[in-house]
Amino acid sequence: MGQRKPMIAGNWKMNLSISEAVALVRTLVEEVGRIEASDILVAPSFTCLAPVREVLNGSKIALGAQNMHWEDSGAFTGEVSGKMLMEVGCTHVILGHSERRHIFGETDLIIDKKVKKASELGLTPILCIGETLEEREAGKTVEVLKNQLSGSLASFLSRRSVPQHLIVAYEPVWAIGTGKTASPQQAQEAHEFVRRWMAENFDEKSASGIRILYGGSVKPDNIASLMAEADIDGALVGGASLKAESFLGIIRYDA
Ligand code: PGA
Repeated sequence: MGQRKPMIAGNWKMNLSISEAVALVRTLVEEVGRIEASDILVAPSFTCLAPVREVLNGSKIALGAQNMHWEDSGAFTGEVSGKMLMEVGCTHVILGHSERRHIFGETDLIIDKKVKKASELGLTPILCIGETLEEREAGKTVEVLKNQLSGSLASFLSRRSVPQHLIVAYEPVWAIGTGKTASPQQAQEAHEFVRRWMAENFDEKSASGIRILYGGSVKPDNIASLMAEADIDGALVGGASLKAESFLGIIRYDA
């Protein structure tokens, strides 16, 4: 992991009411609100962002959104812009999550526009990539990751400049919400590939500074072995981030 500070991020997806989200974040602030060893982030639903922000004020826990539109404003019914997210206090945004890609048909072209806008605004993009089970079994993992990276970062590739503070999350689709985690070796192989790709397409310095999170059924009992791998810099946690006990167990993986 070297010089990169670990990050543990909770992706709450379309879960938790405002009162549930506020209660969870109160506990997190009390327990790990001043933690220095890792960066902690929560990504609640849009409707919970403002109330969660209130509770986070003064703590070191960062606020992220789960998606955004690539324009600042306009006739885009049902969408939320990056500017709006910043106004409510977000510093990060998850982009290209596999649920956005597979359920809502987001393409690399769309994701590239979002990463570009987030980065122009100064919102840190957490770019998600990952192969399906079918693709893994067909031996296409590297090809899929390569295509997702080059497609979702197309505007940056042409300029050979990496998005500011970019975070990548490797989330094998077959491991998301299934209870099947990638083995630390499988995850490390993918992370190593992502870092090498970054070095080849951007530069060594940016590649060695980029944090690559693993996501897919991360739990308190598998986090430590994942974090022991050289290129795993943190976790993007879905299900286990919805309960204080399991999320804290993950955050305190090395305690
Ligand atoms: P999971 O989800 O931890 O529930 O597998 C991870 C994610 O989708 O980010």
